[in-house]
Amino acid sequence: MAPSILRHPSLGNILKLINRAGDKILLKNIIGTTGIIVSQIGLGTVKWGRTTGVKYKTAFTLPEDHALCDLLAIASDCGINLLDTAPAYGVSEERLGKLLKNQRKNWVISTKAGEEWVNDASRFDFSKAGLEASVNRSLRRLHTDYLDIVLVHSNGEDLKLIHEEAVFETLDRLKEAGKIRAFGMSTKTIAGGLATIDQTDLAMVSFNAAYTDERPVLTYANEKNKGIFIKKALSSGHLQAPSLQFALNEPGVTSVIIGTINPTHLRENTAQTELAVKKKQ
Ligand SMILES: NC(=O)c1ccc[n+]([C@@H]2O[C@H](COP(=O)([O-])OP(=O)(O)OC[C@H]3O[C@@H](n4cnc5c(N)ncnc54)[C@H](OP(=O)(O)O)[C@@H]3O)[C@@H](O)[C@H]2O)c1
Repeated sequence: MAPSILRHPSLGNILKLINRAGDKILLKNIIGTTGIIVSQIGLGTVKWGRTTGVKYKTAFTLPEDHALCDLLAIASDCGINLLDTAPAYGVSEERLGKLLKNQRKNWVISTKAGEEWVNDASRFDFSKAGLEASVNRSLRRLHTDYLDIVLVHSNGEDLKLIHEEAVFETLDRLKEAGKIRAFGMSTKTIAGGLATIDQTDLAMVSFNAAYTDERPVLTYANEKNKGIFIKKALSSGHLQAPSLQFALNEPGVTSVIIGTINPTHLRENTAQTELAVKKKQ
């Protein structure tokens, strides 16, 4: 069925598209002024490519390809079109590239640059050459000729990366060259989040029922009509699924990126999202 369109009162001027399939209602949002349309929840893929140096509640092993294939099919069926990956997520990009063959155009892919995961340790390079090489490598790994979104994968020194490494100038040139459609930063500070909103298309920010420190970034993005991706909405698995509603209800949030390798959790997270939408209507 064709999507219907409405404006949501609590989210100001942001255009909303609704997909209806039976009882399912999943909103789609536009990332700021980019024209890129993403589902209200996205799929995070840390656990698709890396098992060490993570803070999840329980240990896990990397899923087989067929399990990830099933997960993508369920996500698509649920109305999810946004995938979040990164070179720092081990083999996540390569695996996505392989699994998304022939369905690239169905997905909005968000990846990162500046951090990679080598021999069980993070390696950072925010130089112009380093970011360009990272974006070119992501294009190859993902078997695509464009990346929808590239976020600077901050090491915590958000403002230094912006002012001294001039990371946004590099990404802006890559955008002009047509290699990426939108860019921003996955930030770790309020000041960095605010500067990112001023200078780019979107910021990715930690926010959940137990951690609201970075709310000023969300509020500012809402005022400026810029995008916000939420990371750690379930506090890396330390909160239960209904806590998703907290992040989903926050004004200014474009999409909540939830990491999962469990199909039941994926469906549960979609159900929580639909519930949050219904409560607002
Ligand atoms: N840019 C950055 O610096 C950065 C940092 C962290 C994360 N991220 C991105 O944001 C995404 C989300 O962050 P995150 O993965 O750290 O944290 P999260 O989404 O808060 O939590 C993911 C954890 O919650 C569990 N979970 C998911 N749905 C659940 C449900 N319905 N019931 C119970 N448990 C559930 C998952 O386990 P199961 O697999 O068993 O479902 C997983 O262990 C990441 O995947 C990544 O894409 C970015």
